[in-house]
Amino acid sequence: MRNSNTLELRKSTISKKIGWGFMLLLAILLFVLASRYLTLDPNVYFPEQRDVYMDNTVFLLMHIIGSMLAILIGPFQFLRNIRTGRYLNLHRWLGRVYLLSVLFGGLGGSYMATIAYGGPVARLGFITLAALWLVSGFMAYINIRNKKIEQHQKWMIVNYALTFAGVTLRLWQVIFGSIGVDFLSGYIIVAWLCWLPNLFVAFWINNRKLI
Ligand code: HEM
Repeated sequence: MRNSNTLELRKSTISKKIGWGFMLLLAILLFVLASRYLTLDPNVYFPEQRDVYMDNTVFLLMHIIGSMLAILIGPFQFLRNIRTGRYLNLHRWLGRVYLLSVLFGGLGGSYMATIAYGGPVARLGFITLAALWLVSGFMAYINIRNKKIEQHQKWMIVNYALTFAGVTLRLWQVIFGSIGVDFLSGYIIVAWLCWLPNLFVAFWINNRKLI
């Protein structure tokens, strides 16, 4: 009985590590993909939004730089070794940078959402995502200020699941593209699909206290 419990525990530790590694890999891929925008070369922008991005470069850059930092820092904040013991200070500093990045990325994203491709339905999807991103970041901050560690962790899980919309959006676009859905219809659906399932996964993790 004891042996089978130890085996189960080891299996779950291994699958958590694989899951974490996969999350980091996707985060790095998005970081690299998004960094092309820092060249400010309009050829990098997707053609349907090229003029919009050229007219709103400040908000676009604010969004992309903030989001790039958040997507990359996030995974390290979930490592138990960094959350406790002698690395706690590193966790605190990375946490401050992460939340400021979400603030910048979220404010830039909120503005970009109002002029996003795909019309009102897509825009509403992005506006809702940006609002939830900012609110969950704020809740995570308030809870840690009040020393409510468990609540802070839960809000951070929700927040990073929303940050991860940057990854899932592009994955859904690849899937829709490969099954022949036209770009505009796919974009409208993906504006919602990029974050709604992520939110459910975050609630599921929080209910099962998986970290
Ligand atoms: C999680 C909250 C996020 C929100 C609310 C959000 C919102 C938006 C919006 C509204 C646009 C403009 C889309 C359009 O013009 O149609 C945009 C574009 C963009 N965002 Fe985000 N985004 C988020 C996360 C991220 C993340 C985590 C990254 C990457 C690190 C990212 C990178 C980009 C890039 C590179 C663009 C330029 C357009 C493209 O290549 O698809 N975003 N975002």
